[in-house]
Amino acid sequence: MDYDIKDLSLADAGRLRIEWANRTMPVLNLIRERFGREKPLTGLKLAACLHVTTETASLAQTLKAGGAEVFVCASNPLSTQDDVAASLVAHDQVPVFAVCGEDKDTYYRHINAVIDLGPMMTMDDGADLVSTLHNERRGDQGPVIGGTEETTTGVIRLRAMAADGVLAYPIMAVNDARTKHFFDNRYGTGQSTLDGILRATNRLLSGSVFVVCGYGWCGRGVASRARGMGARVIVTEVDPLPALEAVMDGFQVMPIAQAAQIGDIFCTLTGDINVIRKEHFATMKDGAIVANSGHFNVELDLDGLSRITTATRTMRDHVVEHKLEDGLCVYVLAEGRLINLAAAEGHPSSVMDMSFANQALGAEYMLQNKGKFDNTVLDVPLDIDQEIARLKLEAMGVEIDALTPEQQKYLSSWDMGT
Ligand code: ADE
Repeated sequence: MDYDIKDLSLADAGRLRIEWANRTMPVLNLIRERFGREKPLTGLKLAACLHVTTETASLAQTLKAGGAEVFVCASNPLSTQDDVAASLVAHDQVPVFAVCGEDKDTYYRHINAVIDLGPMMTMDDGADLVSTLHNERRGDQGPVIGGTEETTTGVIRLRAMAADGVLAYPIMAVNDARTKHFFDNRYGTGQSTLDGILRATNRLLSGSVFVVCGYGWCGRGVASRARGMGARVIVTEVDPLPALEAVMDGFQVMPIAQAAQIGDIFCTLTGDINVIRKEHFATMKDGAIVANSGHFNVELDLDGLSRITTATRTMRDHVVEHKLEDGLCVYVLAEGRLINLAAAEGHPSSVMDMSFANQALGAEYMLQNKGKFDNTVLDVPLDIDQEIARLKLEAMGVEIDALTPEQQKYLSSWDMGT
């Protein structure tokens, strides 16, 4: 079996951490048990380009239990947990191509390595695998019947491909399932982003001015968690609607040019490019800390920052000091890469449980319905979304009401007023 990981001797440590994650992934565990009995993915060769974490290992095990042949590469150069990669290779016989800290060439070599194995389905987080299959490796699209996409940024890229008419196979937008983005993007990113910033800096949030750039589901999560820890939170936005929501949620809202001058800690979660630029870095307070929790590191204009930087020092893991021309310093965390996975461990398993339940059931659905879809971006079917919510509630021991026949009738009628 071909693979490329850091160190196989880390496998036993990885296996224990995967087992620990599995304890709080009840929905995925149920799916794995069913997959083990029914083998719905028999014969499927699936390439997964995901953050190689304990939760991803649980997903890979689930897909394998369903009969799939799974190969894994990283969806970010800094997010691989090397012990997990080792465990997948040693204990689950899953070929993994991922090393934490790999350079850009290695990152793409690893994506190409999983394409070399001839996938029939892609499971992507950020669409780098799909993009490679639509550019340099276009000749290898033939066997691919469909795919799934985990994240907002990836779905945006796929929709752009579909709009340009170049998407070569149908891809399910797992991100857009309600049991994914309402929970993973909000509570997962909210907690894991603060976890990453705090692990990297060990700073006190209480009383600090915390600037959140972007008020999508991820930004909302971070803003509410930072406020919960006592930070004074400022939100920056470009869209009037979420900006208004942020105001009504009680946050200060202002342009980044103003926020740059007063923030202690900055975090971008917009999915867009150059959100914090050279002119903003130049006006920051001495000691300002800047992080990104969006999928790509393009949200911070690090080239612009390097043009006004006179010297850099690594102060501690994931913290680089930039001494600016005026003698003041700003600190960039984790090279501007997604802080929650680079400096912490990503979202906790109980939230990835739902995201990856969508991935597993999405893959099953795409296989069962192969050939039936146009080459577009598809929604996760509502019944899958609802079933995942139902199973999660059940696992949490939470019961809910059912509509009475009278209520059901009322909701489908139009003639019953006051
Ligand atoms: N994305 C965010 N958190 C993650 C995790 N724990 N595992 C895989 N992908 C993630």
